[in-house]
Amino acid sequence: MTQRTVLITGGNRGIGRSIAEEFIRQGHRVAVTARTGEGPSGALTVVADVTDAASLDAAFAEVEEKLGAVEILVANAGITRDTLLMRMSDEQFEEVVNTNLNGVFRVVRRASIGMIKKKFGRIILIGSVVGLLGSAGQVNYSSTKSALVGMARSITRELGARNITANVIAPGFIDTDMTAALPEDQQADYKKRIPAGRFASPEEVARVVTWMASDDAAYISGAVIPVDGGLGMGH
Ligand SMILES: NC(=O)c1ccc[n+]([C@@H]2O[C@H](COP(=O)([O-])OP(=O)(O)OC[C@H]3O[C@@H](n4cnc5c(N)ncnc54)[C@H](OP(=O)(O)O)[C@@H]3O)[C@@H](O)[C@H]2O)c1
Repeated sequence: MTQRTVLITGGNRGIGRSIAEEFIRQGHRVAVTARTGEGPSGALTVVADVTDAASLDAAFAEVEEKLGAVEILVANAGITRDTLLMRMSDEQFEEVVNTNLNGVFRVVRRASIGMIKKKFGRIILIGSVVGLLGSAGQVNYSSTKSALVGMARSITRELGARNITANVIAPGFIDTDMTAALPEDQQADYKKRIPAGRFASPEEVARVVTWMASDDAAYISGAVIPVDGGLGMGH
């Protein structure tokens, strides 16, 4: 295994924190962004908000100075603002787009500079099963997650010859604060629709992400890898 410098956005909790823990366990140099709180022990925590390009720039500069150029980027930070289409405000739509899509664009653009210089890069975008499946009450969120597929594929076409891959990991329902916020009857209903009959742990996503960043996955790019217990089959 080659030791790499890894940056994960939103590494203070949830899936991002698990991804950081797994990269640390495998012996990589790991940094996480956090707006509040800290990443796991063994990670460098840098303060950044993905909606604020200047804070991201400062975070990247700190990571580059302390750990070297980012070779593996996991764009994980994301939010939901669920409500039905006719009730969705411009603010609820735009806030989700600004975090989940524009925020990913900002970090990917910044990371690509170092990756092009290094002639190495692994860009992993955390999408969602609903990006391709759709979801009532999530017109804003699902639009951003399907947009990540176009982004990963365009990056692949632009930078594929420079030893840079870009892929989307599309989780289904994972046990984090995001799903805990769903009403219990809705959680039970989703579980009935998932062939695996359960939500996944964040670690089950983290292990797929670290594999996607490994040398074993060097020839995979522009792919959408589901981690969803079969929920999105056929998409
Ligand atoms: N949980 C699921 O079932 C599920 C399923 C499919 C996809 N996903 C995706 O997986 C990713 C992680 O989800 P999760 O379940 O771990 O969510 P979570 O527990 O709600 O954590 C979200 C993370 O994103 C960070 N974040 C949000 N807005 C940010 C911003 N503007 N700038 C910087 N960081 C920001 C949060 O930081 P703060 O602590 O500062 O808020 C937190 O670290 C998201 O992209 C989500 O869409 C989750």
